[in-house]
Amino acid sequence: MERPKVIGFIGLGNMGAPMASNLLKAGFPVVVWNRTESKARPLVEKGATWADGPRHLAEKSDVVITMLEDARAVREVLLGAEGVVAAKHPNLRIIDMSTISPKDSRDIAQQVADRGMIMIDSPVSGSVKAAADASLTVLVGGEPEVVESVLPILRAMGKNVFHLGPNGMGCYMKLVNNVVLAASLAGFSEAFVLGKKAGLPPQQMLDVILQGSARSPLLEFKGKAIVDRNFAPTFALRLMRKDLGLALETGSQTQVPMPITAFLNELHQAAIAGGLADRDWSAIVQVFEGLAGVS
Ligand SMILES: NC(=O)c1ccc[n+]([C@@H]2O[C@H](COP(=O)([O-])OP(=O)(O)OC[C@H]3O[C@@H](n4cnc5c(N)ncnc54)[C@H](OP(=O)(O)O)[C@@H]3O)[C@@H](O)[C@H]2O)c1
Repeated sequence: MERPKVIGFIGLGNMGAPMASNLLKAGFPVVVWNRTESKARPLVEKGATWADGPRHLAEKSDVVITMLEDARAVREVLLGAEGVVAAKHPNLRIIDMSTISPKDSRDIAQQVADRGMIMIDSPVSGSVKAAADASLTVLVGGEPEVVESVLPILRAMGKNVFHLGPNGMGCYMKLVNNVVLAASLAGFSEAFVLGKKAGLPPQQMLDVILQGSARSPLLEFKGKAIVDRNFAPTFALRLMRKDLGLALETGSQTQVPMPITAFLNELHQAAIAGGLADRDWSAIVQVFEGLAGVS
């Protein structure tokens, strides 16, 4: 399959903007569209071309990448009346990098195929820093020859690219990954509040944990955010709640009971009810602080 020349990028949020920027740095011509146009300006200043909507963007591109909030957004942008599939562009390749469920991803890929285009799923592990450093882990599901043809693009945004099988398998892997993350940070948060209420200094608690076998890159990064009380969003709490919901839904479809995920989902729901939806996901510690009467 022919190597892509022009890349269209849709969804310039916390993750999409630095990812698109890395494609420019790697020398790809990049066309961009974002629902809120102002977020595209820094990329246009770096050399990207603005398109007046998903259809126009697709007409100018060899490959289209979407990095959007959820499946609803992906459906609107790809399948809507002025969406990507409305472009006259047979065999256009679409890489959806948003975190959505395997079921939604396969359904959207089928509708894309019915319109003569090809979609693969390619969600990522790693947050804004990894997106900026081009060190994301990229989790791919799709036909081997399509995946092969877009590898240079994926490698411009990520350090490790795993092709995990046919359509939907990247999405499955992403949900597996995020359940582990949510369980880890909730466990840390509960224990952290126990120590805090007893009077242990927060920074020292983190220092001790990071010297022992509970050490992890997650705690280096999010543990520090908790100690510093820095809840400016790099991964919004509402997005982690979305992913836990997707894991539960997928578990239900595949008859996998997920009692821990159900509990985590409720904790994140409590955080959202308490006004933390748009704070960073590490603000989950505030739910435990509330339960323990710790400010
Ligand atoms: N942040 C992380 O650490 C992280 C890590 C790995 C994966 N993810 C996943 O990556 C995806 C993007 O995350 P993010 O943190 O970049 O989120 P974000 O900053 O909230 O950006 C979301 C993007 O989706 C767009 N969008 C939402 N609804 C839309 C709609 N109906 N039509 C068109 N565009 C729409 C937003 O447009 P506007 O700018 O107009 O709002 C924005 O460009 C999510 O699926 C998330 O779960 C995030």
